[in-house]
Amino acid sequence: MSPARTASPDRAAGTDQAGAPSSASTTIMSARGLHLAFGQTKALRGVDLDITAGEVLAITGPSGSGKSTLLHVLAGVLVPDAGSVDYGGTTVTDLDEAARSRLRLHEFGFVFQFGQLLPDLSALDNVTVPLLLTGTPRRKALAAARDALAELDLAEHAAKRPTQMSGGQAQRVAIARALVTGPRILFADEPTGSLDSLAAERAMEALVGSVRARGASMVIITHDARTAAYADREVTVRDGRLTIGGPGGAASTAAAATTATTATTAGGPR
Ligand SMILES: Nc1ncnc2c1ncn2[C@@H]1O[C@H](COP(=O)(O)OP(=O)(O)OP(=O)(O)O)[C@@H](O)[C@H]1O
Ligand SMILES: [Mg+2]
Repeated sequence: MSPARTASPDRAAGTDQAGAPSSASTTIMSARGLHLAFGQTKALRGVDLDITAGEVLAITGPSGSGKSTLLHVLAGVLVPDAGSVDYGGTTVTDLDEAARSRLRLHEFGFVFQFGQLLPDLSALDNVTVPLLLTGTPRRKALAAARDALAELDLAEHAAKRPTQMSGGQAQRVAIARALVTGPRILFADEPTGSLDSLAAERAMEALVGSVRARGASMVIITHDARTAAYADREVTVRDGRLTIGGPGGAASTAAAATTATTATTAGGPR
C-alpha cells in the first residue's frame, strides 16, 4: 500500500547528544539550531530535536510558544531562518518548495484540529485523494482507502460526507487519510482538540494504535495531559525553546531532553 519513497530514513544508530533516547534507537529526523521569526516575533529561538523511529513524541507548551511553528518546520511546511532539518540523509531545509511538497506527500502524514476533510467528498473519497495524488491507480486507491477506514472502525460510514458524521468519526476519517499513504512520520497538531473526552480517547487509541502497528513515528502537539500520556516522550516548548517534561518539567536544555524518554508499551496511556 505504500507508494515509492522519495527518501529513506537513515537506519544508523542515533547516538548524538541532542535527542536519541537510547543507543539502540534509530534517529529518523534530526533538527539542529532552528530559528524562525515572523517579523518581530521570534517563534523559534534555537531548537534541537531528534525523532526516533517508532516513537510517539508529544510536544506541549503554552499558547503562542512555537509548537505549531516547530511542527511545520520539521514537516517541511515552513523553512527556518537558520538551522537545519535532516530526514534520512536529505536536508529538508535545503529543498525547494516542490521537493518539500513531494517529501510531505510521500513520507509524512498530517492530522489537524479542524477543517481538514473536503466537505463535498465522501469519507471514502477523502481518504482516496492522497493516494491518487501519489499516482496510485484508482481501483487500488479505493481498496486501500476502504481498508484504512475499516481499520478505524468506519467501514459503515464510507459513503457519508464529513457533515453527516460526528466530530469523532470525521476526525477518524482524517486519521485514516493521514495514514493511508503509509507515512514514516505522522505530524498531528491538536488532533483531538475539538473532541469531547470520550471521542478524543477513541481517536487517540486509533491514532496511536495505527502508528505503532505500522512502525511509524508520530509527533503530536497537545494541550491535554491525557493525550500526552499516550506518548513515549514529551518535550515542552516555551518562548521558542525546548524544555523537557510537562508543565512542571525542570530541565531546560535539548540535551537534557534526551534523558526524558520513558518507553511505554503500545496503545494505552502510561
Ligand atoms: N504566520 C504567522 N505570522 C505572524 N506571526 C505568527 C505566524 N504564525 C505564528 N506566529 C506567531 O509565532 C508565535 C508562535 O506561534 P505558534 O502558532 O507556533 O504557537 P503555538 O505554540 O502553536 O500556539 P497555540 O497553542 O495557540 O496553537 C506566536 O507568537 C504567533 O503569534
Ligand atoms: Mg498551534
